[in-house]
Amino acid sequence: MIRLENLRVGFSQGGGAQGGSAQGAGEERIVLNDFNLSVPKGQTVSLIGSNGAGKSTVLNAIAGSVPILGGAIFLGERECGGDPEWMRALTVGRVRQNPLAGTAGEMTILDNLALASRKGPRRLRFAVTSRIARNLADKVADLGMGLENRLRENVSKLSGGQRQALTLLMAVLAEPSVLLLDEHTAALDPANADLVSELTKRFVRQYSLTALVVTHDMGRALSEADRIVMMHAGEVVADVEGEEKDRMAVADLVALFRKARGSEYAEDRDLLR
Ligand SMILES: Nc1ncnc2c1ncn2[C@@H]1O[C@H](COP(=O)(O)OP(=O)(O)OP(=O)(O)O)[C@@H](O)[C@H]1O
Ligand SMILES: [Mg+2]
Repeated sequence: MIRLENLRVGFSQGGGAQGGSAQGAGEERIVLNDFNLSVPKGQTVSLIGSNGAGKSTVLNAIAGSVPILGGAIFLGERECGGDPEWMRALTVGRVRQNPLAGTAGEMTILDNLALASRKGPRRLRFAVTSRIARNLADKVADLGMGLENRLRENVSKLSGGQRQALTLLMAVLAEPSVLLLDEHTAALDPANADLVSELTKRFVRQYSLTALVVTHDMGRALSEADRIVMMHAGEVVADVEGEEKDRMAVADLVALFRKARGSEYAEDRDLLR
């Protein structure tokens, strides 16, 4: 479960996030002001909206990679708005847009997975026993990409789609309760994007994860998620789920976006990129 209460996040005009500690009296720009969102356990939410709407900032605030100026962040029953990022990483799994970002290219597939599957502070000198290796190989085989035969190859040898699938597997192996995906299929070709998208749905079900998925792909947003939350200028401007969502097509989302922006002339491109 994720619950954001009156969340406030801003950045100094110089570029840095404004933390609780003094950063000087520079101008600050508030990106999220009294932002509220509650996602029940097991629900997948597609977070959509225009460029600069604040979608990534919401994810960064939850993960602890930007500090909050006010409000509360509950992950499960625990309020963790003040916890450091590494501590939140025990609960939060993340996959970003760049397939190179989530894995260590100069390490083998097996070593990447072995590190990811260990909870708590990670010890680099960690012998992968044959039992662990077999278990990980089974999980890799489940990806359906034939990577189980390449476990001792460096990750840098993999394609973007293979690497992103591996990143997703690594994220769930750490047994998070919350999964934050920021345009994680955007850099992939359509076939690989479909594959990673299917994998995402499977993992979310299999591990009962609560997921926030940022995307500009409206078709995927509708088909992947239980609920669509649309943001604009730091605010939630639409929130649909259930039958209402199931009845919607991409054109309906675009129309909703135009209406929410209060302009017939709002660029569809803003939503769809
Ligand atoms: N580290 C930062 N320093 C300064 N400003 C930032 C920082 N991160 C985000 N912002 C600003 O916050 C606003 C929201 O950005 P954010 O990245 O959350 O948008 P987004 O909805 O993810 O957009 P996109 O669809 O383009 O990824 C933008 O105006 C952006 O410039
Ligand atoms: Mg973003």
